[in-house]
Amino acid sequence: MSGVAFFREYLKNWKTVGAVAPSSPALARRMAESGEVWKAGHVLELGPGTGSLTAAVADSMPHDSKYLGIELNTDFTGRLRQRFPSLRFENAGAQDFDFDAYLGPDERFDVIISGLPWAAFPVPLQEAILDHVLPKLSPGGRFVTFAYYGFHMLPAGMKFRRTLHERLHGTETSRVVWGNLPPAFVYVARAR
Ligand SMILES: C[S@@+](CC[C@H](N)C(=O)[O-])C[C@H]1O[C@@H](n2cnc3c(N)ncnc32)[C@H](O)[C@@H]1O
Repeated sequence: MSGVAFFREYLKNWKTVGAVAPSSPALARRMAESGEVWKAGHVLELGPGTGSLTAAVADSMPHDSKYLGIELNTDFTGRLRQRFPSLRFENAGAQDFDFDAYLGPDERFDVIISGLPWAAFPVPLQEAILDHVLPKLSPGGRFVTFAYYGFHMLPAGMKFRRTLHERLHGTETSRVVWGNLPPAFVYVARAR
């Protein structure tokens, strides 16, 4: 069902949805493992969509940890709130959300899980989002995102990979999840 809703939103908002299908459970598990969500006290998810990655995050995060999902699309935000009533979702652009009002003093996220279609974004939007969220990651905290295999060799994908190397520490890539549509792999890096 979420696949149908996802594709419908893709047809309406292809520039921001950026994918024809939600991430597979296998990619979602790899994202959660790469982020070491199992030991995170505070998780931020960017662009949760219909909740494919969120489900893996919710399964692996400790019961007493906190979660915030920032989703631009109002239809998706409504669905997420129904599907995960114990998690908090805010309807906003990741570049605009007021994290200072949400986080306590000196509070940071241990992990940022991103489902955003980075390579489809113009560079100024990529930079606005990264400038806004990376300072909210604890020192040594993990930033996890994925790229579609093949697309990562296109100029926009290569540029984004360089951006990750410039802004974060020790960027690594996972093996390809061939069962995802399209096949994808995970980037994981740590805050400097
Ligand atoms: C490629 S989809 C990924 C959805 C889901 N995480 C998954 O992996 O199946 C990208 C999601 O990011 C959301 N999005 C796009 N731009 C955004 C922004 N600036 N801030 C927050 N969410 C955004 C879209 O609405 C969409 O739900």
